Amino acid sequence: MTFGVPLYAFDEVDSTQETLRALARAGAGEGTVVVAEHQRRGRGRRGRSWTDRPGESLLFSVLLTPSLAARDVPQLSLLTAVAVAEAVERQTDVRPAIKWPNDLLLGGRKFVGLLPEAELEGTAVVRVMLGIGVNVDQREFPPELAGATSLALEAGRPIDRRPLLAAVLERLEHWYTTLPAQGFGPVHREWRRRAVTLGRHVVVGGTAGLALGIDTDGALLLRDAAQRVVRVTAGEVQEVGGMVDAPRH
Ligand code: BTN
Repeated sequence: MTFGVPLYAFDEVDSTQETLRALARAGAGEGTVVVAEHQRRGRGRRGRSWTDRPGESLLFSVLLTPSLAARDVPQLSLLTAVAVAEAVERQTDVRPAIKWPNDLLLGGRKFVGLLPEAELEGTAVVRVMLGIGVNVDQREFPPELAGATSLALEAGRPIDRRPLLAAVLERLEHWYTTLPAQGFGPVHREWRRRAVTLGRHVVVGGTAGLALGIDTDGALLLRDAAQRVVRVTAGEVQEVGGMVDAPRH
């Protein structure tokens, strides 16, 4: 298995997730990649859309068939965030930060979104369509995307998408094969080094608290007002106050 073999490249698709899903159901193997210049119906997390202008983004999906329990799928999100951050660091001189669980930020603005979609049989994972969208060449954003940025804007120069894709696939394959061999510890350490969420007072999915760290399955650990440690497995992090700890990057 090599990530990116085979690789299917399209000018446009509805969503690389759906194209990959169809290929997977027709027998495509682990590591298969679908990449597109444009998505007509790109999908984001939590039912949102992910829009693009043709040729400006890196939009792709990778097929995974991990030996993971369903509850550990969030590990793949954190692993992917680390892999994309490392690839960006190798291809540019910018240093992304990670907002739990897997948004990548530059200067506090989002430029990468990840969408791991698992198909399950009971508690076993049959396959994961790992969707990755990177804002590469956008020079401006519409008002509704005011919190977004792109690599070109932050690096101050055009960024070539092809070597970036190759670097992401290489880092992804590295971490994906490290996970069963060495467990979540090495990913956890690299994720933590870049995490902006930790040490901040946040609200996630109705739970407020101080973000202490992440659990071994990728859940966010908060200390709430009653000083209890609460696990949060999904939701959008909103910051409510100042930072308590030093940033880890
Ligand atoms: C997010 O909301 O942050 C996740 C965005 C994920 C976007 C990528 S682009 C490639 C793949 N195909 C999709 O339709 N979505 C993902």
